Amino acid sequence: MINIGMTVAFSLMGFAADPPAANPAGVPPIKIVKIDRKEPVLYDKDIEPIFVNKCAFCHSGNIKEGKLDMATHESLMKGGKKGPSIIPGKSDESLLYKLSAKVMRPAMPPKSEEPLTPEELALIKLWIDQGAKAPTAARVRPKIVLTPPPASVHPVRALAFSPDKSVLAIARGNTVLLNSQIHPILANLAHRHPLARLQVLLNEPLSVATQRALVDSSLKGPDGKPLAAAHLGLVEAIAISPDGKLIATGSFQEVVLWDLKQGTLVRRVGGFADRVVALAFSPDGKLLATGGGAPTEDGEVKILDVSSGKVVLDIKSPHSDTVFGLAFSADGKMLASCGADKFVKTWEIPSGKALKSFEGHTHHVLDVSWKSDGKFLASAGADNVIKVWNFEAGEQARTLTGHTKQVSRVVFVGATPTIATCSGDQSVRVWNSENGGVQRTLTGFPDYLHALAVTPDGLLIAAAGEDGSVRIFAGANNNQPARVIPAPN
Ligand code: HEC
Repeated sequence: MINIGMTVAFSLMGFAADPPAANPAGVPPIKIVKIDRKEPVLYDKDIEPIFVNKCAFCHSGNIKEGKLDMATHESLMKGGKKGPSIIPGKSDESLLYKLSAKVMRPAMPPKSEEPLTPEELALIKLWIDQGAKAPTAARVRPKIVLTPPPASVHPVRALAFSPDKSVLAIARGNTVLLNSQIHPILANLAHRHPLARLQVLLNEPLSVATQRALVDSSLKGPDGKPLAAAHLGLVEAIAISPDGKLIATGSFQEVVLWDLKQGTLVRRVGGFADRVVALAFSPDGKLLATGGGAPTEDGEVKILDVSSGKVVLDIKSPHSDTVFGLAFSADGKMLASCGADKFVKTWEIPSGKALKSFEGHTHHVLDVSWKSDGKFLASAGADNVIKVWNFEAGEQARTLTGHTKQVSRVVFVGATPTIATCSGDQSVRVWNSENGGVQRTLTGFPDYLHALAVTPDGLLIAAAGEDGSVRIFAGANNNQPARVIPAPN
């Protein structure tokens, strides 16, 4: 007994005296904490969400680093290149635990990524020591209790101009704002006022008359008080119907249709697997395509009949991972989709029959757009490039390079071969899709850009991102914003 006590004491002392660099993994280990846990640790409830968050990106789907597939309990237990990663009952002998605790090389996740918290590590340890058991019952999706995002979290994830260009819809945090300051911008453009004058005219404070919010009066915060928001969760996507009457907004497991003019809620459609991150109206306005799906599990594409809200087409496993972008062809006969599985795919509408798929991006494909003639597609990649695809030939036409971070949105402008993109590199670019030349670069954004809207005449460009402010550019050559809508404090 005494001996054991001594050993422990010595090793603790030795550990405390060593600088962190002496750790075999070369990085500071994760702090060991004890968790007070009476009920057994469950794989599907406690462990899988940690893996999905912090490991699955490199250990599931197309990427299985170290040949370790963490997509399911079964594949996880098979282990990787070095054999089993988990020895049930023996966390200290389990490779997965040692790498995650960062006491052995290569520390996991790699140091560029967010490490496990001491609590997460402790849960994983306890789960392994309790036998690393598989999920018990048939797979039950953990019920997620959604709470509103903290007030400081207000990224703009989507933007859309109404067809008459009178309104810019802004999805910011869990709110949707309808800004109608575009009209004076256009009026001034028409009169060819110099930009300096435009800015003086337009940077007047926002009033109720110029910015309204879509509010679902049935929403309540955790304190039971009404929440002045459009959704409980973040608004991930918006689309305005071609006749300008409806606006659709997508959030966690739901889509809401609103009357754009009245600002009233028309219909709520639920039943989605996860976040709805892509929305597109068909050119005749009768259908609304929705895209999303549970990360690393399955993509989801459902098409709703706008007048009834019913799902008229549910494409089974359209992508093997989240769908990020959707676009109807101008004739409404085809839908393009793209997603985390690196593919761009096309579907016949209304049958849902798979047409062509396009492979070439080396990372998530975040958005897709059709050229108005239906002959070309453009896609935006998390691999920092835009690809132009020849639909008829079924092959890649060219790759546009220049952005230095993820390209988050791409749009063909009107009926032209011009495309506009925005990126995590805090810039918007306007390109010629036929030769890959850059026509314009808009810079000066304070943060990562998620959202972009361009009017078909190319005269108005709005872009926004993580910080919540929105910049509107007016005219074909004004590379200074005509209006900055500030982020909330
Ligand atoms: C950014 C990518 C990335 C993330 C995120 C990541 N890993 Fe890894 N992982 C790797 C790479 C790369 C290797 C292969 C390293 C090597 O062989 O040198 C690897 C290897 C492993 C191995 C060894 C497999 C074998 O048999 O060789 C384990 C175990 C592992 N990771 C666990 C995890 C866990 C647990 C997490 C989350 C807490 C995680 N990884 C997150 C990239 C990642």
